[in-house]
Amino acid sequence: MVADVLDGKAFAAKLRAMVTKEVTRLKDAHGMTPGLAVVLVGDDPASQVYVRNKRKQTVEAGMHSVEHRLDSTISEEALLALVGSLNKDPAIHGILVQLPLPSHIDEALVINAIAPEKDVDGFHVSNVGRIATGQAAMVPCTPLGCLLLLRDRLGDLSGLNAVVLGRSNIVGKPMAQLLLRDSCTVTIAHSRTRDISGVCRRADIVVAAVGRAEMIGADWIKPGATVIDVGINRIEKPGGGTGLVGDVAFAEVSQVAGAITPVPGGVGPMTIACLLANTLTACCRISGFRAPATLSV
Ligand code: GUN
Repeated sequence: MVADVLDGKAFAAKLRAMVTKEVTRLKDAHGMTPGLAVVLVGDDPASQVYVRNKRKQTVEAGMHSVEHRLDSTISEEALLALVGSLNKDPAIHGILVQLPLPSHIDEALVINAIAPEKDVDGFHVSNVGRIATGQAAMVPCTPLGCLLLLRDRLGDLSGLNAVVLGRSNIVGKPMAQLLLRDSCTVTIAHSRTRDISGVCRRADIVVAAVGRAEMIGADWIKPGATVIDVGINRIEKPGGGTGLVGDVAFAEVSQVAGAITPVPGGVGPMTIACLLANTLTACCRISGFRAPATLSV
């Protein structure tokens, strides 16, 4: 079998077009513009690239975009004060504090200081609890992107065996909760799991988020399974230079799987599209308007 390649870039473009249309409708009907504030502390190069892309796409979708670039020496108190002022700002509906934060700042304290209804990352404990108990929540962008790709490919996920590889708060745990909400039988596998390839081989759906280049080989995959690769790993190429690869050995796994996301061009573009969708959803909920059902969970 040669797997279908799931085109996250094209899907994300469709999603962004839907968001842009809804933003125009909100403006025309209610004079309302969704606003996203991104807070970047320090000068980590990877974070700067992410933040630049987020800003560009926010503006392209017709949203109000605010960026706060802060020195890495900023105090925890000053950062909490900024979050407090964004919580009160009526022009801001989404707040994203780019992680990681410098080690002198308590990340959990800052995240939990964000008003839950403006927490477009879905990292606030209140949103984590709401997802786990089946209530309307802000959902972390990468797992939301994976879920939308899976639903698009498979339709109803009910009863399918799903294995999530990785147990991070940003991807693994929320991904497992979302799959459970869609009535999958969910296993979270991680570095301590016994016979991890055997566990993975029972899955109809595999979501790989381990952060290790090409760790998942063809012998981990049940023929016909749907494989979602969240990994983005920079590697040295044999001929020199560097390249990006996922957690899945794409060339060999695509000979066994039914469908697979590529890296780059799979989950990555979905993440920012889902951030825009979350900002729109937050704006609608805060303002008491109906949020588009296809863009939220
Ligand atoms: N750093 C890496 N990924 C993310 C993300 O999804 N949200 C935030 N806030 N920081 C990140």
